[in-house]
Amino acid sequence: LSLCGRTQIVKVVPKHIEHFSKFSPSPLSMKQFLDFGSINACEKTSFVFLRQELPVRLSNIMKEINLLPDRLLTTPSVQMVQSWYIQSLMEILDFLDKNPDDYKVLGEFVDALVTIRNRHNDVVPTMAQGIIEYKEAFAQDLVTNQNIQYFLDRFYLSRISIRMLINQHTLIFDGSANPVHPNTIGSIDPHCQVGDVVQDAFHSAKMLCDQYYLRSPDLILQEMNKKKNLPVSMVYVPSHLYHMLFELFKNAMRATIETHENSNNLPPIQVMVSLGGEDMSIKVSDKGGGVPFRRIENLFSYMYSTAPAPQIGEYTRPPLAGFGYGLPISRLYAKYFQGDLQLYSMEGHGTDAVIYLKALSTDSIERLPVYNTTALKNYKVSQEADDWCIPSKEPLDLRNYKVAK
Ligand SMILES: Nc1ncnc2c1ncn2[C@@H]1O[C@H](COP(=O)(O)OP(=O)(O)O)[C@@H](O)[C@H]1O
Ligand SMILES: *[C@@H]1O[C@H](CO)[C@@H](O)[C@H](O)[C@H]1NC(C)=O
Ligand SMILES: [Mg+2]
Repeated sequence: LSLCGRTQIVKVVPKHIEHFSKFSPSPLSMKQFLDFGSINACEKTSFVFLRQELPVRLSNIMKEINLLPDRLLTTPSVQMVQSWYIQSLMEILDFLDKNPDDYKVLGEFVDALVTIRNRHNDVVPTMAQGIIEYKEAFAQDLVTNQNIQYFLDRFYLSRISIRMLINQHTLIFDGSANPVHPNTIGSIDPHCQVGDVVQDAFHSAKMLCDQYYLRSPDLILQEMNKKKNLPVSMVYVPSHLYHMLFELFKNAMRATIETHENSNNLPPIQVMVSLGGEDMSIKVSDKGGGVPFRRIENLFSYMYSTAPAPQIGEYTRPPLAGFGYGLPISRLYAKYFQGDLQLYSMEGHGTDAVIYLKALSTDSIERLPVYNTTALKNYKVSQEADDWCIPSKEPLDLRNYKVAK
């Protein structure tokens, strides 16, 4: 397949996408991820699973890319992202007719996955660039905005899942790599100490904050473990948890500092980690003045992002703020294993951001988008006429309603 010319590729790719998008992705549970990486981990089994599952996940989401509005789909940035997906799909399909018993094949597969992972490193800022190009060139309407939000949530969640599969395989089966953390299984820590990750993420955000503002708020961390009087621990991907907390801390610090500009002491950021029978929740509370209720939903929107164009590979913005994707992407990390992330704000006072995760590894199952007619229908919704009154600007003049005597 790799020998195909460009025109050949253009002809065969849609057929492959058509074929593999007919399968639904297979969500893995935390337990299955651990089994793939346990003592009797079988590289061959993982290889045979991935050479089918990766094309299925890629093809499912590629079908949805094609449903984007033409004017967005044809921007150079989105075209580039699309070409990466096509290239990676073809590279994995190369392995379909290879022998799983040949250790050389297995080695080449690991290398191919590493290449693919690197190729897709900049997907998020490149997509964001496409959105900006589109926003600058065309007037937006509500339906298109909703479709783009719906698509990007699914697209980025799919990307998180594909990277998870690739990371697990390459970390577990790359013989040359020394295990950095001997107790982790790929990127999963079966005894993830939540409090430690909170401390790490806080420390990193604090360093950025000190650099930029020359001061930073303190942390007050509390833990509640219903069952035992021990620090909270769970089966989870520490890098995902770190990502979410780091984003929440940067936001909380920025808000705290900017609302207490003229004050000598900064109110601390309070964190509560709580483990129950079903949920493991983390609340990050700041006294940073909050956000009006009306704006909360927009904070999770890819289209309403207030930031200017991100510069790929360099940061021109204050380091505490990114390009407005901190919250929506963090929420996807939470949702990936059936959790969520919500903001409760009181304008004038501060914000509570809560991460909800599943306490039990048996409940932590990948949440994956699937392309079928249900998804297709969601892109076809038309703008319905409003069925709520529009409040009039002028107060109603009740004298007009006087009953004639
Ligand atoms: N804890 C908070 N307090 C006040 N405003 C917040 C808080 N968290 C988020 N925000 C608002 O939400 C916006 C979006 O946050 P985010 O998605 O992290 O993007 P960014 O930080 O790059 O702007 C922020 O710019 C800020 O205006
Ligand atoms: C689409 O897939 C989801 C998940 O498998 C399923 O619940 C839904 O019924 C499917 N829709 C159709 C129309 O098949
Ligand atoms: Mg942020």
